[in-house]
Order: sequence, then structure tokens, then C-alpha cells
Amino acid sequence: MHPKTHAILNLFHQREGFVSGEALSRELAVSRTAIWKHIKTLREAGYVIEAIPSRGYQLTATPDNLSAEEIERHLSSAIIGRRLICLAETTSTNSDAFRLAEQGAPEGAVVFADTQSGGKGRMGRRWVSPPGVNLYCSVILRPEIMPYEAPQLTFLSAVAVARAIELTTPIIPEIKWPNDVLVRGRKIAGLLNEMSAETDGTNFVILGMGINLNMAANQFPSDMRYPATSLCLELGRAVERVPFAATLLNELDRLYNEFQVYGFRPVREEWQQRCNAYGRELTVSDGDCEITRGAFEGIDDDGALLVRSRKGLERILSGDVRIL
Ligand code: BTN
Repeated sequence: MHPKTHAILNLFHQREGFVSGEALSRELAVSRTAIWKHIKTLREAGYVIEAIPSRGYQLTATPDNLSAEEIERHLSSAIIGRRLICLAETTSTNSDAFRLAEQGAPEGAVVFADTQSGGKGRMGRRWVSPPGVNLYCSVILRPEIMPYEAPQLTFLSAVAVARAIELTTPIIPEIKWPNDVLVRGRKIAGLLNEMSAETDGTNFVILGMGINLNMAANQFPSDMRYPATSLCLELGRAVERVPFAATLLNELDRLYNEFQVYGFRPVREEWQQRCNAYGRELTVSDGDCEITRGAFEGIDDDGALLVRSRKGLERILSGDVRIL
């Protein structure tokens, strides 16, 4: 967005009511014609701006487009979101973030896309990403951790998504190991972390998050492995994407800061409190093959699933969990 257009937007947010064309042109040191052109640009971007000749202009509605300007307005984070890249369309925000991180993008940079043509899910699955409805984003982190500790960050993003849902809606979500966020047993968000590491250190970690905010029932693919839902389907009304996106980044920022100061323990405790399987019987499978079944006993320091089976306490590093 042109800096002067951005400045007009800021003025609308700072002042209540109408702002005269004369005041705008004086404060921005541009002609009245230039102001009119910037207003036209804003209207084309979806901002609703009322104009009354004797009073000036008033912003009456803001589009729910994922733009850096609008997300920044709601951000209070220190690290996460310090650079926002908002794309109309891409193959996968995880792939974009990975490439940007390789090129030296700073920690906390976030890539959002309105739609993804090749959204990636876990285990080589696809993540269906229709435009205009959901959130697809990938955060670049550069933590000073060993590569084996990197999976801990998935738990961080799961807790951040759950907190963001609770802060913006009356819904209380649950988390399912390792990386699904559920509402009434239906998947509402999926997380996919990717990393670049050497044997003795981590270069960067990409936290990929896909959250079903306003997806309609007929937009879900028919071959879903698990039942899925969206916040809109649960609430019976649409959820604004911009405030949700900013809340998510603000919560991730809090959790990441805590992680760097105190390590994995506080995140692990909150994750376990939010986990739907505590003390319950479950099966873990790899594709269609059952690996084990037993009682869920939490996660260990590396984020591995702990299952008390007939063989004793088992540590599971990957697989699909089903609660019996
Ligand atoms: C899962 O299988 O549950 C993980 C899904 C992760 C999807 C998100 S959408 C944003 C980011 N970009 C991708 O290509 N995937 C992740």
C-alpha cells in the first residue's frame, strides 16, 4: 500500500467521525485531488468510506482481507509478526516461508495466503485451502535448540491456536496428539512444522498452521480421514479473519517468549490440560497398521506420546491417534 494511502487509513483510525478533505490534504501535505485518488484506492481494496461534501470522509467498514496493514493494527507481539507477507495466492505458505528463511528472513516473519493451490498436510496429505474463508499461515522461528527439540514447537502452535479460538469465540477446543485442534471431536485446525538443521544445531523452524474459520460444509473434501468443522459451522456465524490472525500471532509470541525463558515444561503442561485423551484408551496407527493400543499418559520432554500398553510404557514419535 502507498505510504500516503496508509497514512489516510491511520488518520481514520485515530479520529472518530468525519475527517474533512481539507484536514487530510493539510496533514498529508498533498492536494485534495491526491486525497480523492487515495480514497478511491481504499474503496477498491474493500474499505467502505462515506463522503459528505460539507463534512468530509468517514471510514465505516474495513474489509476482512488478510493485509499486513490490518493485521498489524491488532498486533501487540514482540517477535512474531515483525514482518508480514500477505499473498493473494500461493502453492504453500510453508514452502514460501522455508525459501524466505533460507534467504535470511528474520525470526518472526509470517507468510499468510488467502488461498493455497498445494497446501501440505502431515504424512504427504493435502490441505484443502479455498480462498476468502480460512487462515493459512507459516511462521519463521530461529530458536537456539537442538534438532531433536524442534518437535516441541508444534505443541506451542497447537496451544496458540486453542488460545486464539477461546479468546475470539465462546468455543472451548481440545488438542489431539500430535498436532490437531478439535471442536466436538471434529478437526478445526492442522499444524505442519518443517525445519532446516545441522547435526549440532537448528537453522530455522517453520510453523505451518491451517485453521478452518469460515469454511462451509460443502467446501470440505469428501475423502476426509476425520470429521472436520469450522468455527463458522460451530457458531452459526462468520468469524473475522484479521482479528483472529492477530490474536493467534500475539498468543504464539507469548508462548515462544515463555519457551525461550523456561523451556518446554510450561507449554507441555498447558498442552496436556487441553488434550482430549488424558487417561483414555487409544490406538496409534501408521497408515492402516496399528502400532499400539493402551492408556494415554501424556507427552514426555521431547513431545513423544506416552502410552501404557500391555508391553509397558511406550514412547511413540509419530502416528495417528484414535480415542476408543
Ligand atoms: C495436517 O495435516 O493436519 C497439517 C495441515 C497443515 C496445513 C497448513 S496451511 C498453512 C501451511 N502451509 C501448508 O502448506 N501447510 C500448512
